[in-house]
Parts: sequence; structure tokens; C-alpha cells
Amino acid sequence: MDYWREKVALVTGGTSGLGLAISEALAEKGVSVVIFGTNQERGEKALSAFKEVQKHADQKFFFYSVDVSKKAVVNSAIEQVQKELSGVDILINCAGITRDKLFMRMVEQDWDDVLDVNLKSAYNMTHSLIRSLIKRRGKVINIASIVGLIGNPGQVNYAASKLGMVGMTRALAVELGGKVQVNCIAPGFFATPMTDKMTDVQREELRKKIPMKRYGDPKELAAVALFLAGPDSSYITGQVITVDGGLTV
Ligand SMILES: NC(=O)c1ccc[n+]([C@@H]2O[C@H](COP(=O)([O-])OP(=O)(O)OC[C@H]3O[C@@H](n4cnc5c(N)ncnc54)[C@H](OP(=O)(O)O)[C@@H]3O)[C@@H](O)[C@H]2O)c1
Repeated sequence: MDYWREKVALVTGGTSGLGLAISEALAEKGVSVVIFGTNQERGEKALSAFKEVQKHADQKFFFYSVDVSKKAVVNSAIEQVQKELSGVDILINCAGITRDKLFMRMVEQDWDDVLDVNLKSAYNMTHSLIRSLIKRRGKVINIASIVGLIGNPGQVNYAASKLGMVGMTRALAVELGGKVQVNCIAPGFFATPMTDKMTDVQREELRKKIPMKRYGDPKELAAVALFLAGPDSSYITGQVITVDGGLTV
């Protein structure tokens, strides 16, 4: 029996970067994939990419335009998803933003936006899907960041949101025990639209600090997400796996 056959995954931030790479890898395995994002054009492009790699003709792919920071919006989108598909087996909380600024200049909106999109969204999503996940002995994977573990100037809001995800992962894993596995990935620096925002000088300075002397390829992150979503991680829960080319060693 193929483990992935008839599985359903929901990936927030599946329209871009790491979330897109994870979604494509799941589609390639034979999983039906639902992505939540806000950019219609990127969402539609992602669905076409999934169709190109799909394994079975009956796999389903959906994009919903959802602001994952809003609980009521998430609830109604999840209701739609449950109507289209019978439930969700794999939830990947990957949507994220940055509003980088030195702390002294960081206004309340910068704090709230980042905490709402990066952390509250994980509550919104997981809470809306919890019954389905328990019923299907599902898996939750939260995409945090090494910035939450080691800090970074200009990213106080971002670091707080990401370490919040780690705490959420651990507490929820303990609370749910064998019912749902909840794990976290803390990526280092990957080549995505998020890191494209850095200047060439910043990117190069950072690259030199990475022991492996390169940025990660989103496919390398997707491989770890697939391991956690797949059958070989059957005795792993509440963990944070760092994927960073050795940066935090
Ligand atoms: N790239 C890295 O080096 C790195 C390192 C550590 C951690 N991470 C984390 O990995 C995750 C993905 O980052 P990325 O590099 O792939 O960034 P990205 O390319 O900018 O993608 C961010 C994703 O989040 C979605 N998103 C943002 N706000 C949203 C909202 N309010 N509602 C729904 N979706 C929303 C975006 O969807 P739309 O554009 O469709 O709105 C997009 O799909 C983030 O959580 C980030 O913090 C990235």
C-alpha cells in the first residue's frame, strides 16, 4: 500500500518559495494538495506546476485566496476544503512575512502584522483542522526559522513569531501525544523571494558565515518536510529540525 495514496495536504504559503517547493514535492508523491495564499496569479501558476508532476490522475489541487492571519476567514475556507475533500492528513504552516526594522523604530503595526501572519496563522489553521487531523492521525509541520533560535538584528518581531512556533509545536505535540505528530523545521537561509529582498552585499556577507558556503535550495527543505510528513518519521514528535548548512552549529 502506497503511504501517500489518497492523502490530502494543506500548505499555507504554498504559492511561493519554500511552501511551493514542499507542495510540489507532495504533489509528485501522489498527494492531493490545497494551498492557501493571497496572490491569485501565483496560486494559479502553482496549480499548473502541480499538474505537471502529479502521479495519479485523481489527485486534486486547489488554491484558496485566504489571509491566514484572520481566524474567521480561515474557518470558512477550511469549511470549503472539508466539502471538497474529506479531510486533511498533512498540515504545513509555512506562510510568513518579514517587517525588518531596528527595534527602536519598530511600530505596533510591524509587530502585529508579523505575529499575526507568522504565528497566529498557525493557531488559526491548526485549530480549525484539529478534529480532522485527530481523526486521520495526521501530521502538522510548522516552518519556523533559525532566527527564532539565535536571534538577528532588525528581526525582533520575526524572531519572536518563530520561537513562538517552536513553543506551540512542543506543547501541542505533548498535548496530542500519539494522535497527531507535530514537528517544526527551522530553516537557515534559502534562495526564495523572501531572501531576494536582501541587498547583494547582505547576501554575500551572510553566505560567507554559512559553513557550507551556500544558500539552501528550497528542494532541500522540501525533502525534510517530506520526511516529517511521511512514514519514516513515525516515532518523531515535538521536535525542531534545523536545516541551515551548519550555520547554527
Ligand atoms: N527563505 C528563507 O531563507 C527562510 C528561512 C527561514 C524561514 N523561512 C520561513 O519559511 C516560510 C516561507 O518563506 P519563503 O522564503 O518561501 O517566503 P516567500 O517566498 O515570501 O513566501 C511567503 C508565503 O507566505 C504567504 N503569505 C504571506 N502572507 C500571507 C497571508 N496573510 N495569508 C496567506 N498567505 C500569506 C505568501 O503567499 P502570497 O504571496 O500568495 O500571499 C507566500 O506563499 C516563511 O514562514 C518564512 O518565515 C524562510
